[in-house]
Amino acid sequence: MSGLRLENITKSFGAIQVLQPMTLAFKAGQVTAIVGDNGAGKSTLLKVMAGIHKPNAGAIYLDDKLLTNLSAADHRACGVEMVYQDLALAKQQNVVANLFLGREQTRTCFGFLNRTAMAERAKNELNRLGISIADLNTPVGMLSGGQQQAVAIARAALFEPKVLLFDEPTAALAAREVGQVLDLIRQQKEQGRIVILVSHRLNDVFAVADRIVVMKQGRLISDTPTAATSMSKVVENIVG
Ligand SMILES: Nc1ncnc2c1ncn2[C@@H]1O[C@H](COP(=O)(O)OP(=O)(O)O)[C@@H](O)[C@H]1O
Ligand SMILES: [Mg+2]
Repeated sequence: MSGLRLENITKSFGAIQVLQPMTLAFKAGQVTAIVGDNGAGKSTLLKVMAGIHKPNAGAIYLDDKLLTNLSAADHRACGVEMVYQDLALAKQQNVVANLFLGREQTRTCFGFLNRTAMAERAKNELNRLGISIADLNTPVGMLSGGQQQAVAIARAALFEPKVLLFDEPTAALAAREVGQVLDLIRQQKEQGRIVILVSHRLNDVFAVADRIVVMKQGRLISDTPTAATSMSKVVENIVG
């Protein structure tokens, strides 16, 4: 079976069970939003999918390949990328360096970074995504919040992943910057990727998601096509 599948995933931190047995499947070319109150377990679920946290039980499959218990680096190598809530960018380093963070291309014979190739690829990728940053040598910390978010997304999209996980990608943005990030999310869906979006901004969720999953205290409360639900029903499921 193709797609990403979680089967009876559980996660505890010490004595606290944060994820109750969780079974969910995600299809290519679809945006699934995961919503729920603070502490519902949304970030933990994404981190389990990204290989940051090991589940206590259950299995994760991507296109029938078993990912459970592989490292975060292996998850990336298998095509699962996450855009973190805090972006996880190196603020002092420039845009190019950030796009290749942890994946620097080296000239194999000499073992040093091939800066020309990296800069070229960075420029092409940003153009392809419609992200305009005047000078790619700018330290990322000097860019606007929206531009930093765009760099974090470009970094995740650079190696053509199968799955993109977004944790609150618009939470820290000014209203005028939100549209571009939503466009980037739509583009990833149109590329046929599996897109999973955690967000507490229901306007954004209704603007980009095909499906809305509500979590509460580590449990699945509802799982509905966006077209078959409404903002008030989702709110009711979140707080109810
Ligand atoms: N690394 C951790 N160690 C211990 N407890 C954690 C850790 N990460 C999250 N938690 C706890 O798990 C619960 C769910 O957190 P989280 O997944 O961040 O929720 P959400 O993203 O829905 O707000 C919270 O009670 C939180 O305190
Ligand atoms: Mg969270």
